Amino acid sequence: MKNKIYVVGSINIDEKISIDSIPKAGETKHGENYHISFGGKGANQAIVAASLGASTLFLGRVGCEIQGEEAINEMRKNGVNVESIIKDTTAYTGRAIIIYENMDNRILLAPGANNNVSKHDVEEFIDGNMNDILLVQFEIPLETIWYAIKLAKKKNMIVVVNPAPAKRIPKEILKEIDYLILNQSEAELLTGEYPENIENCRMASNKLHESGVKNIVITLGEKGAFYSTNNLNGLLPSIGVNVVDTTGAGDTFLGMFVYKLLEEENIEKIIQYSVVAGALACERENAHDYVPTLEEIEEKM
Ligand code: RIB
Repeated sequence: MKNKIYVVGSINIDEKISIDSIPKAGETKHGENYHISFGGKGANQAIVAASLGASTLFLGRVGCEIQGEEAINEMRKNGVNVESIIKDTTAYTGRAIIIYENMDNRILLAPGANNNVSKHDVEEFIDGNMNDILLVQFEIPLETIWYAIKLAKKKNMIVVVNPAPAKRIPKEILKEIDYLILNQSEAELLTGEYPENIENCRMASNKLHESGVKNIVITLGEKGAFYSTNNLNGLLPSIGVNVVDTTGAGDTFLGMFVYKLLEEENIEKIIQYSVVAGALACERENAHDYVPTLEEIEEKM
């Protein structure tokens, strides 16, 4: 696998508390199961792709406190090329406060240094060629992301966008996207359709195709994922799993998707691997503490 994955994205410290119901305004409650770990959608996705064996380079920013250094070490340990990560002297490392309630998470972000990832940083970082991949999410400034996408397209790279957390995308950017991978609420924000069955998945995808997006994948949780290309579309079901924690399952899907995209042309196969990887990630706690292996995935397919 000689092509590379360039990830431009966020690095966070995740602090998670599980609770049976969210406190009301003015109320203090005891949670249980406090856990601190490394996260950030960008870092999580890069770690999955690199752990699977893809040559993965990362651009992001952390603060100068010890947690920033530790986050970089964690990424390096998992095989990510961290040479371009910048230690920002003016901001702390991003934090995500995750409240886990009834198998669902609510995430509150304090972006810190993630907010300082700049066009200039991108300029220095992206030097890919045809068939290298640019992967972005929306936890760093949008103008930096738009710039990265335009630059990657100029270099004929493959652009994969995960619009999470959900934000609108300008028309001139939509047409540069090769693969848009989004969940149901992100699809609703971008298209006005909440996709829950094959018909409204098709409607949402058609709107995105009309705006110029080439390939679309809508993740549907335990129902699997819907995909739509120029001439193919369909729904690929998930596998049954024992859900322990859904945090980062989408990131595992993305990391597997870009890994497979480097070596496989069959879109259905790429998505099947990604769906199973995302489902298996729900069987363990925390964002990227566990990356399923290819063997584990193939056993379940
Ligand atoms: O997708 C999960 C991630 O979202 C967490 O790791 C958290 O940092 C937030 O970015």
